[in-house]
Amino acid sequence: MQWVRIAELPNYVGQDVELRGWVHNYRSSGKIQFIIFRDGTGICQAVLFIKDVPSEVFEAGKRLTQESSLIIRGTVRKDDRAPGGYEVGIKEMEVVQLAEEYPITPKEHGTEFLMDHRHLWIRSPRQTAILRIRNEITMAIHQFLQERGFILTEAPILMGTSAEGGATLFETKYVNDEPAYLSQSGQLYVEATAMALGRVYTFGPAFRAEKSKTRRHLIEFWMVEPEMAYCTHEENMKLQEEMVCYIVQRVLERRAADLKTIGRDTAMLERVKPPFPRITYTEAVEMLQRLHKPEDEWQPIPWGEDFGAPHEVAITQQFDRPVFVEKFPTKVKAFYMQPDPENPEVVLGADLLAPEGYGEIIGGSERIHDPELLAQRFEQEKLDPKTYGWYMDLRKYGSVPHSGFGLGIERTVAWICGLDHVRETIPFARLLNRLHP
Ligand code: 4AD
Ligand code: MG
Repeated sequence: MQWVRIAELPNYVGQDVELRGWVHNYRSSGKIQFIIFRDGTGICQAVLFIKDVPSEVFEAGKRLTQESSLIIRGTVRKDDRAPGGYEVGIKEMEVVQLAEEYPITPKEHGTEFLMDHRHLWIRSPRQTAILRIRNEITMAIHQFLQERGFILTEAPILMGTSAEGGATLFETKYVNDEPAYLSQSGQLYVEATAMALGRVYTFGPAFRAEKSKTRRHLIEFWMVEPEMAYCTHEENMKLQEEMVCYIVQRVLERRAADLKTIGRDTAMLERVKPPFPRITYTEAVEMLQRLHKPEDEWQPIPWGEDFGAPHEVAITQQFDRPVFVEKFPTKVKAFYMQPDPENPEVVLGADLLAPEGYGEIIGGSERIHDPELLAQRFEQEKLDPKTYGWYMDLRKYGSVPHSGFGLGIERTVAWICGLDHVRETIPFARLLNRLHP
């Protein structure tokens, strides 16, 4: 008998198949037992009917506990009332292991309890749906970039310098006792590989010792960072817009069942079509001043300050799709961003804010390609030009205008899934107060 997975059941209606998985839930009513069966691809209903199986198999069914591992063989039926839409009439059953009393029951549990049991919590239908959507997003990104000729080039995780400022740097000691830092971003390195290969990206973990406890900050998160030689700020935004639309479209097409499992209202996702609105930082500051009401818990900001989360929430609520905020003040952004030649007080960079209050999912910019301007920025930011010598070399040997961006995977998953916290977007979240399990 062929071993198939639950997601493939639509192709096997009327046939006998083998399924290997676990008991998600169980109920019995005398002559019939219902096992809600899961195998990582979905759930189905497996039915043990007293007349269809030997009595010892029926008795073994009664002893099944939640999360017991099980192999079943039987006939596939389509049944719209069954969880998952398919039912398997069991003919044979092998109990692989009877599970001990499972700590996570169908009743409500607190978040801390669930996070302490994250290694088990990830088995729930909701969590598996989120992880499959995360996988879809990751694969959509690779496919989008590969189709456009981008080369995946890995950046080191142990770095000798900071890429995104000292405040969130994770320091450790290198084998020769030199100070080393966990990468906050692979950007400086993809700038080098872009000069070798033209269009590149890195897809890897980033580490930031964020002291803040928010619903969108992780200490360890994943980021895709495309970088393009001969690319302007304008072209950079165009690519981001296309990539975000591609990701959302692909999740809508391929993970509809999972979006339904987690209860995502997809109407807002259907609207994610180009062009995305664009406003400047200056317009955003004015917009916040206009929107502010005395009862709000946030205050408008003066020109020159960075936005906080509540500001981003207020801005995104004005639009029905992602919005670019461009041309931030030079002094609030990283040293590498290209100042606008028409107004060097602001940079040729943009953040992409996701709608429904999600806020920043992408940070990107054109990079400084002029060696003198870069040297000047090092000085202003009090960065030691010696440690960035190799980065300066990129400006000495065939420097070209180039641009890139970083998209945070967890924030993107949180937005697409409609989650209220990034802790559910990654198998094992690293948060301010959580390093276990
Ligand atoms: O805006 P950021 O800091 O940009 C960079 O790191 C650039 N070097 C990227 C580039 O141009 N190549 O971070 C980019 C994105 C943010 O928009 C956000 O989605 C995510 O990374 N991010 C975080 N996600 C979760 N937890 C954190 N602590 C994050 N910090 C940034
Ligand atoms: Mg940013």
